Amino acid sequence: MLLPKGGVNWKSAKARLPPSRAVWYFLTRTRFLLFVAVAGIIILLWRGLSGTAGEMQKFYCWGPAKSPMDMSANEQAQWNSHLQTPVIFNHHAPVEINSTTIQRVDLNPIVSTRKALANEERVLILTPLRDASPYIEQHFDLLSGLTYPHHQIDLAFLVGDSTDDTLAVLAMELERVQTRTDQIPFNSAMIVEKDFGVIVGQSVEERHGFAAQGPRRKAMGKARNYLLSTALKAEHSWVYWRDVDIKDSPSKIIEDFIAHDRDVLVPNVWFHRYKEENGKLVDIEGRFDYNSWQESETGLKLASTLDKDVVLAEGYKEYKTDRTYMAKMGDWRNNKDDEIPLDGIGGVNILVKADVHRSGINFPCYAFENQAETEGFAKMAKRAGYGVYGLPNYVVWHIDTEEKPGNA
Ligand SMILES: *[C@@H]1O[C@H](CO)[C@@H](O)[C@H](O)[C@H]1NC(C)=O
Repeated sequence: MLLPKGGVNWKSAKARLPPSRAVWYFLTRTRFLLFVAVAGIIILLWRGLSGTAGEMQKFYCWGPAKSPMDMSANEQAQWNSHLQTPVIFNHHAPVEINSTTIQRVDLNPIVSTRKALANEERVLILTPLRDASPYIEQHFDLLSGLTYPHHQIDLAFLVGDSTDDTLAVLAMELERVQTRTDQIPFNSAMIVEKDFGVIVGQSVEERHGFAAQGPRRKAMGKARNYLLSTALKAEHSWVYWRDVDIKDSPSKIIEDFIAHDRDVLVPNVWFHRYKEENGKLVDIEGRFDYNSWQESETGLKLASTLDKDVVLAEGYKEYKTDRTYMAKMGDWRNNKDDEIPLDGIGGVNILVKADVHRSGINFPCYAFENQAETEGFAKMAKRAGYGVYGLPNYVVWHIDTEEKPGNA
């Protein structure tokens, strides 16, 4: 130490130091000792905690507390265990498809449920026509009255082998309905033309002789299948087959039928026949459709003896089946929701869940279990595990064809 010459000596320096008593006072009466103690504890605690897993986890994103050179093998393993890398196996990046010739159809959201109205499920109404011009206007009156929302209904017709003006009358009626400005027009309408070559005439006698039944039913099956395969689109949940010669039916029929939630459902089909008896006009309520039935032992035994290609028809003395006919049951005055299971059905009015058709259940134009067309359809649907039901008390009124039901 350099001391100034003469000015400051040891004695003067000592005089300026605090007296030993002042030092003692400073140490004991101020908080200096407390501060030292607290600082010591903190340093000890810090050193104790640093290096524990908890401390490393808390700060792991800043890296380890030590340089890797200073870490022991155990410390390195501990540190690395916090850095597991995620692995993607068989990763495929999404592809982008821009080609306009590639179409994607997702059938998964298309369901057929009791909540059809809420789900806005789409209904396709299919009607095969042949020499049907006298009935078309009535048909459209009834269609217009349907209460199911028309913007969720598509119409499709097959016109084939007609010699009358069916096509023109149909086209004009469609134009009339579809150009209305109210809620009546349907979402879309399609006319399919296809001639199959006339097999028999359409007159009642010609149509209903037994010999004509096989070829006639096969031809009808073909017409239905052509119409179905042309008109059924991915968006359809329900297919409603409705013949043109229905005279009257409840306007809520689609909702009523959907409420049953059945794969295949048909009503009873009756007709009015007015006759004069003793000067009074009497309404005879006739039973029309003998194609809706429950299979019998006799029917099964008979089928087992027949050639595979024979098509059975109901109500003819040639073949006795003893089947139980829905036409002979029921009454429109009783509970309309009563259900019975069926093995054969008629085609006047059928509601089908579209997936039944999509699964390949259609109208055989050949003998399937000795049945064709709608009866073959019912047999095929049941064989595939679908439920086929009839409503004996729910009546759809057919026109009176002035015929006896077969020879029954
Ligand atoms: C598809 O089109 C988009 C937009 O034009 C474009 O960015 C993309 O590269 C195209 N993808 C392919 C696979 O061509």
